[in-house]
Amino acid sequence: MASRPARSILVLHGPNLNLLGTREPSVYGRTSLAAVNEAVERHAVSRGASAVCRQSNYEGQLVDWVQSAAGEGFSAIVINPGALTHYSVALRDAVASVTIPVIEVHLSNIHGREEFRRHSVIAGVAAGQIAGFGPTSYLLGVDAALALPAARAGGLPARASRAAPRAGR
Ligand code: DQA
Repeated sequence: MASRPARSILVLHGPNLNLLGTREPSVYGRTSLAAVNEAVERHAVSRGASAVCRQSNYEGQLVDWVQSAAGEGFSAIVINPGALTHYSVALRDAVASVTIPVIEVHLSNIHGREEFRRHSVIAGVAAGQIAGFGPTSYLLGVDAALALPAARAGGLPARASRAAPRAGR
């Protein structure tokens, strides 16, 4: 396993998020990806942790990063899967296969947008989802990632949705 600080978080950005700042600014704002990453890294350090940020437009690259995160020494993943959120079963299966917690984040409130954006195939296997707070969604994602191990130590599973019995079953 790679040597990393005790709490090191891998932050992944999916397709088109490299265009942040210029892409549909009325939806995603004017903050560039570089500025988001800087804020995320600073935020993690202020919490006594560290963050490494990566972006790819390729599904397979994101799958590879999710698969190798624990082996690289990361304790959690914060991921904005971009459009892959809505249809990538491959990314969902990768998230489901890792033992470290994965937090899904979105800049926009996907639940208040077009119908096709309201469903996430990732959410059911993520520890949780944060959406609608612009770049702050990532900072909240980092905080959630840092809070989770303590919650798990207290008895909560990494993916509450998996353990929670469905009503009526
Ligand atoms: C997004 C929402 C997705 O629907 C979209 O495809 C993105 C960005 C967000 O952060 O709000 O690329 O994940």
